[in-house]
Amino acid sequence: MSHPIRLMLFGAGNRGAEAYGRYALAHPEAVQFVAVADPDPVRREKFAEAHRVAPELQFATWQDALQAEVSVDAVVNATQDELHHDSAIAALRAGYDMLLEKPIAPTLEETLEIIRTAEEHQRTLVICHVLRFTDFFSKVNQIVKSGRLGKVINISHSENVSYYHMAHSYVRGNWRNTEIAAPMILAKCCHDLDLLYWWMDDQPELLSSTGSLLYYRPENAPAGAPDRCTDGCPAEKTCPFYAPRIYRDNVPIKMAVSRSDKPLLKFIGNLALHQPGLTQALAAVIPPLRTLTDYADWPRNVVTDKPQSDAAVMEALRTGPYGRCVYRCDNNVVDHQVVNIAFKNGVTATLTMHGHSEEEGRTLRIDGSRATLKGKFAHNTAWLEIHEHLTGEVERFRFAAEVDQSAGHGGGDSGLMHHFVQVLRGEVSPLTSARDSLESHLMAFAAEESRLQKATILMDSFKKDH
Ligand SMILES: NC(=O)c1ccc[n+]([C@@H]2O[C@H](COP(=O)([O-])OP(=O)(O)OC[C@H]3O[C@@H](n4cnc5c(N)ncnc54)[C@H](O)[C@@H]3O)[C@@H](O)[C@H]2O)c1
Repeated sequence: MSHPIRLMLFGAGNRGAEAYGRYALAHPEAVQFVAVADPDPVRREKFAEAHRVAPELQFATWQDALQAEVSVDAVVNATQDELHHDSAIAALRAGYDMLLEKPIAPTLEETLEIIRTAEEHQRTLVICHVLRFTDFFSKVNQIVKSGRLGKVINISHSENVSYYHMAHSYVRGNWRNTEIAAPMILAKCCHDLDLLYWWMDDQPELLSSTGSLLYYRPENAPAGAPDRCTDGCPAEKTCPFYAPRIYRDNVPIKMAVSRSDKPLLKFIGNLALHQPGLTQALAAVIPPLRTLTDYADWPRNVVTDKPQSDAAVMEALRTGPYGRCVYRCDNNVVDHQVVNIAFKNGVTATLTMHGHSEEEGRTLRIDGSRATLKGKFAHNTAWLEIHEHLTGEVERFRFAAEVDQSAGHGGGDSGLMHHFVQVLRGEVSPLTSARDSLESHLMAFAAEESRLQKATILMDSFKKDH
């Protein structure tokens, strides 16, 4: 039997610890994290303890880790966007293969430099386009390529970011401002653009995009709202973005569970929403209720390293970024954007991204000459339907929903890690090369340029210019 693949982690934050670390703990026979770098001592030590990382292989920074010349099969780079460029290039030059979180980098120049470095040094570089590894999106790909839809004519794909995810990540959080993060169309939608490119197997010819930051602005603040929700906001009962509602009371998570198409989950969600005291009392004897009464996962675990305690959450909201009024943050990224693409094969596609959805999830329809494919990949449900033009027959498929925490992203996180391990073992070639991943990033950068310049982009010229 082959030995587990040995990995070194850069960045033991949400993705490093919860997505890839979680996979390693569940599959110790396949993969082990033997070294970790993170300047945050709490995160580093927590990760090191869970993965039994030897003290001499725990580092404060990725620079320290590279200096130590640790012998591992690959690096998993889950640092924040703006650190990808320097850390990825240094590690690739040092000879490490790498699983790199998306987006590759916040600027096109940095993105190209990373890809060129991987190619020059003949390193395997896999970008975390996790949706390619879900059963749901793999099925879409298979249906499109099977010819079942006839000739594909148009794709309409929407990334419906929930209002609380938008507020958490793109108004209060890490991806709120292009001074510190990538534009939202890259940060949030490089996955979706990658899917379009994958299904079409073709390059885009023309691209245009419009969008703006329409809502999360000071002029929309309720009268008398202070800078922080915790400073006695008069709108605390009427504002969906009131931070204790989102993080302490976990209301959006409970609502999402109450919308489940599974009767037990629906019941649990409704009970937790409408009778929190009773739910707390019953949780002592009915363990499934504890998934909500003891909820300590995303986004609560981003706010504090002690998400189990309401007091720690409230302290973080009083002092940290996530307690800020959504109308008074230093955010500048869009809250809605539409991208129109004409592929060289003549197919047209529209990607709509917005941050005002009641639930988290993607919806799509692909219309072909013989059938229409409709689908929803959302927090609590995932399904596809093929509607045949000739017979009127409908074929339905059901999948793991996005919320499936054990798998993450509807199975995409674990599917990607499983694939990466197979690639490192030489059992399969990467499903997608770094150069393939570049296509989605090029579309995202072109979309941002189009939005800002109010211009249509000829993709071949855009590529030549860069
Ligand atoms: N694939 C996906 O679907 C997906 C989803 C969410 C986020 N992401 C991406 O994953 C990446 C990480 O996001 P996250 O939410 O886990 O962020 P995070 O902030 O939770 O984690 C990043 C970690 O990097 C650490 N760090 C900072 N400086 C460092 C250094 N010099 N050396 C080593 N570590 C350092 C930080 O302390 C932090 O713990 C980002 O690029 C993000 O865009 C991808």
